[in-house]
Amino acid sequence: MTDTFMAPERLPDPCVLVIFGASGDLTRRKLVPAIWHLDQQGRLPAAFALIGMARRQMDDAGFREQMRAALLEFVGAIDRAALDAFLEKLYYICGDPSEPETFQRLSAQLDQLDRERGTSGNRCFYCSVPPQIYLDIVERLGAAGLNREHEEGRGWARIIVEKPFGHDLQSARALNQALHQVFDEQQIYRIDHYLGKETVQNILVFRLANSMFEPLWNRRYLDHVQITAAETVGVEHRAGYYDRSGALRDMIQNHLLQILCVIAMEPPSSFDAESVRIEKLKVLKAFRSYSIGQVDRFAVRGQYSKGTTDDQSVLGYREEEEVAADSRTETFAAMEFTIDNWRWQGVPFYVRTGKRMEKRTSTITIQFSQPPHLIFGQTDEMPPSTLTIRIQPEEGISLSFNGKVPGPDVRLDTVNMDFSYAESFGGRTPEAYETLILDCLLGDATLYSDSDWIEKSWQLLMPVLEAWKTTSSGSVPSYPAGSCGPNEADALLGEDWRTWAAL
Ligand code: BG6
Repeated sequence: MTDTFMAPERLPDPCVLVIFGASGDLTRRKLVPAIWHLDQQGRLPAAFALIGMARRQMDDAGFREQMRAALLEFVGAIDRAALDAFLEKLYYICGDPSEPETFQRLSAQLDQLDRERGTSGNRCFYCSVPPQIYLDIVERLGAAGLNREHEEGRGWARIIVEKPFGHDLQSARALNQALHQVFDEQQIYRIDHYLGKETVQNILVFRLANSMFEPLWNRRYLDHVQITAAETVGVEHRAGYYDRSGALRDMIQNHLLQILCVIAMEPPSSFDAESVRIEKLKVLKAFRSYSIGQVDRFAVRGQYSKGTTDDQSVLGYREEEEVAADSRTETFAAMEFTIDNWRWQGVPFYVRTGKRMEKRTSTITIQFSQPPHLIFGQTDEMPPSTLTIRIQPEEGISLSFNGKVPGPDVRLDTVNMDFSYAESFGGRTPEAYETLILDCLLGDATLYSDSDWIEKSWQLLMPVLEAWKTTSSGSVPSYPAGSCGPNEADALLGEDWRTWAAL
């Protein structure tokens, strides 16, 4: 039996959620299912409405039917009456986000919902559109006065901005500036869905709600940390975006650096947005920066060629639709980071990610140092103790350490202590988007990125992006789909890094 200690349940104010890009994949697959689950758990206010907006011609009824199909596909068996009642809360506006007239209609509909549904003038705008359209939306919201809070009967106004947040430091700064011209920082929620994952949130609980790990969490006891996000999928239907992005921008700048910060930050004084943000930024500021000339020593990239994943023959990256035959975009990236502070000096952090890898796994492996003196003989081969946090799949944590094999001789072998979310807690694990949308409606930005963190993360990666941009930086190493990545990564990470595949 598990004892549960709960923070009091929080309920958002009455409000309207507006989704820009409502005809897109994210809305069907993730956002509307997340809102459905929140609704079914009673986590939404009684006065709640959702307005979807997109260019596609549709009316409320058409949008509701599309979302009905999406929920049946992505949530599964649903009670018919509950589904009908939920769909009644959905509305649709067909409009071009670059047209001021679209926002006049939006504004009128919001006022009408306030009157009819009692949504009290509280609005959350979710930008689930291609990044080149963010600026239009932000500007038009400002021009229509929809950014203004607590005046003329209005309540709060918040904006959620999807990733990618910029393409490099310059564009991220430009986007921050444009947002700040219309919204205050406290109104802006930059989403990183990894921070909403239960397992990522649990890192802090694990570290800071138990007193036995934190004393070991430093250079004295840890040898290194590895953070891996390997996927078996390729670029799917997103080659148009991915070919301009690549693994470094797509996964490391945001998801993996966020995880690294959660692992490496100092304990905040409380679990609130300001305290957590300060600590995460402090870690990033302590990262050692590289010059362009040093990049090859600390970063490796790769691109998948044809091969076999999940028992299926798959195309190489350059043969994928919408990818140029001479594309140099990396589908694998690995980097070593050094944190120059008292806690982490001399402890390398290895971060790696790739598409079309041997298996799907997102894990953090914390490797302990060997004991200072070994008394059991033949200890060269003794594997180090490790703590592995499995973010997905098979979410859980395992501690592997050495034990004595029963018998007259002193023989050591590695044993595991394992905690599995599914076994211990059972039930359904909420999707990251449920947590993050609810937090935004509650006005809690603890799990969101702020402008300083985003700009600092881009700044750290700029030398790598610069070095990889030029064709003179050599060819992009290839790796067969379904493998552990390019051989070139061995030089950076040591051959041991391949053991992640056996996790
Ligand atoms: C997205 C990336 O942010 O994260 C995708 O753009 C990637 O390329 C995805 O596949 C991975 O998310 P998850 O939750 O499946 O690990």
